[in-house]
Amino acid sequence: MIFWPLNESLCPYFVKVLINKLLSLEPGINAPFNLLAFPLMGLFTSWLLMEIANRFYGMVSMYVWPRFRKDIRESILTYTQGHAHGYFSEHFTGGLANKIAELPRACAHILDIFICNFFSTILTFCISLGLVLQINPLFGLILLVFVAIFVALTILNMKDINHTAKTHAEAISELDGQIVDSLGAMLAVRLFSRTSYELKYLNKYQTDEIKKSEQASWAIEKANFYKGWLTFIFVVITFSTLICAWNNRWITIGDCSLVTMTFFNLMGLIWHSTFHITQIAKEIGISNAALSILSAPHEIKNYPNARPLLINQGAIYLDRVTFSYKEKTNIFNEISVQIKGGEKVGLVGLSGSGKTTFVHLILRLYNLNSGKILIDNQDTS
Ligand SMILES: Nc1ncnc2c1ncn2[C@@H]1O[C@H](COP(=O)(O)OP(=O)(O)OP(=O)(O)O)[C@@H](O)[C@H]1O
Ligand SMILES: [Mg+2]
Repeated sequence: MIFWPLNESLCPYFVKVLINKLLSLEPGINAPFNLLAFPLMGLFTSWLLMEIANRFYGMVSMYVWPRFRKDIRESILTYTQGHAHGYFSEHFTGGLANKIAELPRACAHILDIFICNFFSTILTFCISLGLVLQINPLFGLILLVFVAIFVALTILNMKDINHTAKTHAEAISELDGQIVDSLGAMLAVRLFSRTSYELKYLNKYQTDEIKKSEQASWAIEKANFYKGWLTFIFVVITFSTLICAWNNRWITIGDCSLVTMTFFNLMGLIWHSTFHITQIAKEIGISNAALSILSAPHEIKNYPNARPLLINQGAIYLDRVTFSYKEKTNIFNEISVQIKGGEKVGLVGLSGSGKTTFVHLILRLYNLNSGKILIDNQDTS
């Protein structure tokens, strides 16, 4: 990513030297290539180095990015698995899966934009500014003023763009999650004949996504409107100054080509960078939504230095156990139960009386409100 900006900014310089040399040559001279060796070699070498570096970057990327995404995916999956059972009944699987899938992609994209776009643009700008200043400080000043106003306009509009891009990204994530959940519960949807209800329900999220997409696009278009006019004024000023400068012979035709090529290159790069700023805002929004999984602490934790459970007979003893789901009424109120090792026990009760909950508590899928559960005399709570 160093060779690409180098080529981008040095190419106009070699073209300038080439044009100036060509203008100084008489037609029909012998061995014109020898006389043009410096700019031609410069152009070819710079291009060749960039090609080699780009292919090398491509190969490194091929190896690095998938592993980078794997590492992030693995970390967030490991942490998610550590959440208690209650976490999964409170959060939709579709939403969780969508966030876990999006986080590695978004992180890689953010890093890629920083390396490939921001870094290259800043480097190209610095080298180009040096070259243009060498020709005439006036062109350096025009370039500096243009970039300063462009960056200021971008920063002024950034808050609006960031905000709308983030809310749009969240709306997409929400919609994707809802679709996955709706398809995942297809049996229930069919059994209760709710297919049209599901479509209507998803339509609410579709409408929301459309609204937020429009808001995000408007924010970008508004900023583009100002930047478009600024670019137009910049082009008019640059060409007027170039013609005046050449008319007074302050600069050569080669200089004209350097300034024109450099300015057009930079304009493209800077426009591209502002587009990438909105991309970054979007990806940060997506990453933030996914990181909420990591910011939620694990509900059930082992004590530090807790010993592994050793099971000999499998004797279970519930000692004055009280339990409720969140702030709901108690399912069990200070119950004590003893089940001997190897003993077979039947749980009988009305639907909703707490049979499944009883088994889940023994499996330590939830924290108790109070009391203890002992397995072979070892406290598991
Ligand atoms: N994850 C949960 N969050 C909140 N309340 C829950 C949760 N799971 C169960 N409940 C409630 O706890 C009570 C006991 O439910 P549980 O599933 O243990 O009953 P059950 O005896 O197994 O019923 P069934 O015979 O229908 O399987 C019910 O009122 C149920 O609504
Ligand atoms: Mg049950």
